[in-house]
Amino acid sequence: MVETDSGLRLSELAPRILQSEIRAMSVARDAMGGVNLAQGVCDTEVPAVVAEGAQRAIRDGHNIYTRLDGIARLRRAIAVQVGRTHGIEVDPEREVLITSGVTGGFHAACLALLNPGDEVIVFEPFYGYHLGTLKGMRVVPVVVGLGGADWRLDLDAVRAAVTAKTRAILVNTPSNPAGKVFTGAELEGLGVIAEEFGLFLLTDEIYEHFLYGDAKHVSPASLPGLRERTILMSGFSKTFSVTGWRVGYLIADAKWLGSIGYFHDLTYVCAPAPFQHGVADGVEQMPASFYHGLADEHLGKRAMLVEALRAAGMTPHVPEGAYYILADARAIRGATSAEKARTLLRETGVASVAGSAFFRAGGGEDLLRFCFAKKDVDLEEACRRLRGMTSAGGRS
Ligand SMILES: Cc1ncc(COP(=O)(O)O)c(C=O)c1O
Repeated sequence: MVETDSGLRLSELAPRILQSEIRAMSVARDAMGGVNLAQGVCDTEVPAVVAEGAQRAIRDGHNIYTRLDGIARLRRAIAVQVGRTHGIEVDPEREVLITSGVTGGFHAACLALLNPGDEVIVFEPFYGYHLGTLKGMRVVPVVVGLGGADWRLDLDAVRAAVTAKTRAILVNTPSNPAGKVFTGAELEGLGVIAEEFGLFLLTDEIYEHFLYGDAKHVSPASLPGLRERTILMSGFSKTFSVTGWRVGYLIADAKWLGSIGYFHDLTYVCAPAPFQHGVADGVEQMPASFYHGLADEHLGKRAMLVEALRAAGMTPHVPEGAYYILADARAIRGATSAEKARTLLRETGVASVAGSAFFRAGGGEDLLRFCFAKKDVDLEEACRRLRGMTSAGGRS
């Protein structure tokens, strides 16, 4: 515990929340140059409609606070889009909250729906921010592992993890880092458990448009009987390559949305006003072909990285969705995955994330995570470096 002579100290919680491993790798990479396949920064092109929309909004004076639930035009556009893609009816006046990214939406939802000591079921491999956010509110994440090479969901294990304190199940589909796309049947199974025990389904659907092969995105909110208990979170960071803009949304029954909006207002006030306008232009104007094109483009990037990892002796788990690959790094020198990531960075200049960042203590030590949402020129350079690794050494 950090404590000074003057009696000043950090909170009980603070010392336990460490700098995320993902950022740590980005920092290490910045220090030495090379290619960053660590953080999901997504530096692909911003659609011109979206970028120009935001610039125009600044010029037109949309630089002040918006209504706490966001601008009407964006809420309406999202309601229309979600209605079309998921087949659910959404009231843009009462059921849509524009958030400061999924991160801000999730934070506000936790404050509104969970109490300290409550438990939330989370699937492993997990996204670290989900756990960090829950722990930051003294909510207990209860981790259930996804099994096998295809990250199978074990509904019996979920049921066994439910206790009297369980309040919600958190589903990230498509998932980071595994790229698992939950099937309709799996989500229905989770829905049955949620109904039986009176649980919310918190869904992080930020990668909904990044789907490969036959994978099909299903939002739990669209399944019969699950709308009331589903808190749907998604956003534009990934779809429009604007991770720094901080614009996302949350869809929930009006019973919950008011309180979630209240807490979002306390922390963020609103998502950045001009960026809400830019994103609204995108949602209104981008045709269906844009979203299909996004998936196709990333399918090509996935193929490029899969091939390079295989050539480098790191067998990849080929993801069905999102834009990360977990690869088997047993051949890389290092006792832990953090050491392996550093070996790889030192020997090839390619930054990855230690698999341990996505598992409970002791898990993921043989894995590294690579992000392929990069400009082709950078991804090609990273792949060239990885392929050359056999001769560059780096093996145990
Ligand atoms: C699963 C998941 N959820 C949320 C986020 C962040 O979303 P946002 O930028 O909308 O806060 C990320 C970013 O990497 C992510 O991987």
